[in-house]
Amino acid sequence: MPNPKTLISEDEIKARVDVLASQISLDYADKGELVLVGVLKGAFIFLADLSRRLSIPRYIEFIAVSSYEHGSVRSGAVRLVMDVRRSIEGKHVLVVEDIVDTGHTIHYLINMLKSRKPASVRTCALLHKEHKTEVDVHVDYLGFKIGDEWVVGYGLDYAEKDRTLPYIGVIDPTD
Ligand code: IMP
Ligand code: MG
Repeated sequence: MPNPKTLISEDEIKARVDVLASQISLDYADKGELVLVGVLKGAFIFLADLSRRLSIPRYIEFIAVSSYEHGSVRSGAVRLVMDVRRSIEGKHVLVVEDIVDTGHTIHYLINMLKSRKPASVRTCALLHKEHKTEVDVHVDYLGFKIGDEWVVGYGLDYAEKDRTLPYIGVIDPTD
C-alpha cells in the first residue's frame, strides 16, 4: 500500500498546536492545576506535544474507551476501558482527543466526567469531522476541521497501522 497522502503536514500541526497551547495557557492562567485527560490511544502524541507547550501548572491523566472494533467498522456503544487514577472533584479538566467524528465518544466522556463534580470540563480535539457529527458537541479548542475521510498518523490509526506517522495522512480503507 502506498504511503498515506499528506492532509496536514508536520509544520502545520506544530504551528496549530502552538496556538492551542497559548490559548489554553491564557484561559487557565491563575485557575490552579489543570488536569489534562488524554483519550487513549489516539491522543497520546497530540497530548505529549500540547502538554509540553503549556505554561500553566498541569498534570496528565489517561482514559481509554472503545468504540471501533476493527479498523473503521463500528462496534456500537462507547465503553470505558480504563479510568483516570485520581479524583477530579473540584478540578479544572480538559479532555484531549485526537478526533471528533460522530461525537458519541466525546459526548459520553463529558457527561461521565461532569458527574464527578469537577470545577469545569472543556474539550480539546486535534481534528473534527463536523459534517459527520451526530450529537450536539462543542469542541472548545479545535486544531483543524476536516472532511469525511479516514485519517492516520500523529496518533491516529487504521487497524493499528500508521499511528506513528509524523503527519496527518488520508487513506482509502477499501484499498
Ligand atoms: P466518535 O465517537 O465517532 O466521535 O469517534 C471518535 C473516535 O473514533 C476517535 O477518538 C478515533 O479513535 C476514532 N476515529 C474516528 N475517525 C477516525 C479517523 O479518521 N482516523 C482514525 N481514527 C478515527
Ligand atoms: Mg480516539
